[in-house]
Amino acid sequence: MAERPFIVGNWKMNGTRSMLSEARAIDRASQRLMKVEVALAPPFTLIHAVHKEVQQIGVGAQDCHSVEEGAFTGDVSASMVLDAGAKFVILGHSERRQSHGEDNALVKAKAQTALNAGLRIILCCGESEQVRDAGDAESFVIDQIRASLPEISGNAGEVLTIAYEPIWAIGTGRTPTAEDIGSMHRAIRALLVELYGEETSAAVRILYGGSVNPGNAAELLAADEVGGALVGGASLTAESFLGIVLAAADLPSDG
Ligand code: PGA
Repeated sequence: MAERPFIVGNWKMNGTRSMLSEARAIDRASQRLMKVEVALAPPFTLIHAVHKEVQQIGVGAQDCHSVEEGAFTGDVSASMVLDAGAKFVILGHSERRQSHGEDNALVKAKAQTALNAGLRIILCCGESEQVRDAGDAESFVIDQIRASLPEISGNAGEVLTIAYEPIWAIGTGRTPTAEDIGSMHRAIRALLVELYGEETSAAVRILYGGSVNPGNAAELLAADEVGGALVGGASLTAESFLGIVLAAADLPSDG
């Protein structure tokens, strides 16, 4: 792994203020693990509180609206999450694609608005089990990324992270083999090189997500072109999340 690994906890729709102690514990431990970039994406309601609570780790949002402001009852804009303390936003997560009907065009519009507001983006992609079984996983994922990526006027390496999350691995305890992850990540890397050139794209980290836990993190993080992990269930306690951060800290830094 060439770049500094990026380990991001996605709390999904979990967490009230009673969970701030977990964020605090993650932050304290991360101060001793500077080799790893650590971040949490709590629900909207906790972004500001987590931001106030932590010194070392990054804070992000799990979604934002595709337009900057307006009459959208119940929605939250990119500049609102930025104002609350978020530095990045996760977009295109399969749970939003599935349960909120978000398609690539909407993900792209959200990503454009987020970048314009000054947020970094973590763009999620991943195939269903059916697509994988049909042997179409790589072409599906590459098409999905192409159609979801916004125009990036500045340096893509500074604002873009990709998260490859096979839908069938999310929350199921099942994961692809390290070989399959490596092969997908190499295909994504080739696309990034095509879009942004060798040098710029080298700074874009490609995270793996889907049932990462302290027991499998070392193996999954060591797969080819894996620049970190997007972690759901195992990010909800400091103990399990830090097990993953420690695995990332133990990786050889030259790949
Ligand atoms: P999981 O979720 O780690 O619980 O599988 C990952 C994700 O959805 O980002």
